[in-house]
Amino acid sequence: MTKPLTLLGIETSCDETAAAVVRRGAGADARGEILSNVVFSQIAEHAPFGGVVPEIAARAHVEHLDGLIARAMSEAGVDWDDLDGVAATAGPGLIGGVIVGLMTAKGIAAARGLPLLAVNHLEGHALTARLTDGLPFPYLLLLVSGGHSQLLVVDGVGRYRRLGTTVDDAVGEAFDKVAKLLGLGFPGGPAVERAARDGDATRFHLPRPMLNRPGCDLSFSGLKTAVRQAAESLGPLNDQDRADIAASFQAAVADVLADRTENAMALASETIPPGHRHLVVAGGVAANMMLRERLKVSAHACGYEIVVPPLKLCTDNGAMIAWAGAERLALGLTDPISAGPRARWPLDPAAAATGAKA
Ligand code: KG4
Ligand code: ZN
Repeated sequence: MTKPLTLLGIETSCDETAAAVVRRGAGADARGEILSNVVFSQIAEHAPFGGVVPEIAARAHVEHLDGLIARAMSEAGVDWDDLDGVAATAGPGLIGGVIVGLMTAKGIAAARGLPLLAVNHLEGHALTARLTDGLPFPYLLLLVSGGHSQLLVVDGVGRYRRLGTTVDDAVGEAFDKVAKLLGLGFPGGPAVERAARDGDATRFHLPRPMLNRPGCDLSFSGLKTAVRQAAESLGPLNDQDRADIAASFQAAVADVLADRTENAMALASETIPPGHRHLVVAGGVAANMMLRERLKVSAHACGYEIVVPPLKLCTDNGAMIAWAGAERLALGLTDPISAGPRARWPLDPAAAATGAKA
């Protein structure tokens, strides 16, 4: 039996500066409690450039992180002495930002004599469903964010089997690029979803890369190119054109994600017994209601129950890092103070060595 653990979690790998305090109950399959979860979104700082600028992100993390940690601690009502460990994202991500968060965590760990947990950002997304829903291992994970699109079987903490990944762009990246192309602003995902609500998804016949192919790999760059061609063929776009393109694009993404995830569910069923068949959808793109509904239909058709963390925990946050740190600490998986920041860090190194872009 492990004792209850209280961790500070720090997230700085992209354009959100975040800190949170999470408590993990005692026991092997313990639940989590979020004591505080503060996120500073740098959207306004990057918006004029239409995307995340790494140098601006790193500087903003430096400016905001200390204040956010102080707020997370005071909102949680905990003191340094109440902490059992400090967790920070150590990668993958924009290296300048990762360094800011990891070094801050090391400073706190060294000053307070606390264990350091150098967390893989993807593991943070992967384990969130255990924090929110107490989900037992194993389960299937569809991780869809701005930097990653992967299907993984989560067998345990640190034990991931990748079934498929994108061979080119990540799905969130495709949303962001399409939004930029249509002049819908940044960040792209929510803007495309909003525009698509008033659109006709059947007006443009866009390709569905990888559809009906064996395996679980994904691809979005051909779709993005087709969107550009459709937009250019119309000349200046009016609002209805934008809405119709956004809806057609989103429908194509939904078809691809559903098809690939159905293949993954069939494969995962070889090792995940009935009664344990859960499909977790995590990462920023999981915020998309239309995609969620579509995946829910696919999951039910394959005998899976879908689990999607609340919106605030789908996008980048400190609570998922604190929780992943707590899960690791409960198993004694702490890191040395020399742990380094990593720009690339696949969850399943074996698959990454042989497969497509991580
Ligand atoms: O997980 P996340 O916050 O950061 C990364 O680790 O990448 O995901 C951000 C991504 C962005 O590409 C954003 O456009 C996308 O998630 N996203 C969405 C929606 N909300 C955020 N994509 C589609 N529909 C949405 N509603
Ligand atoms: Zn993320």
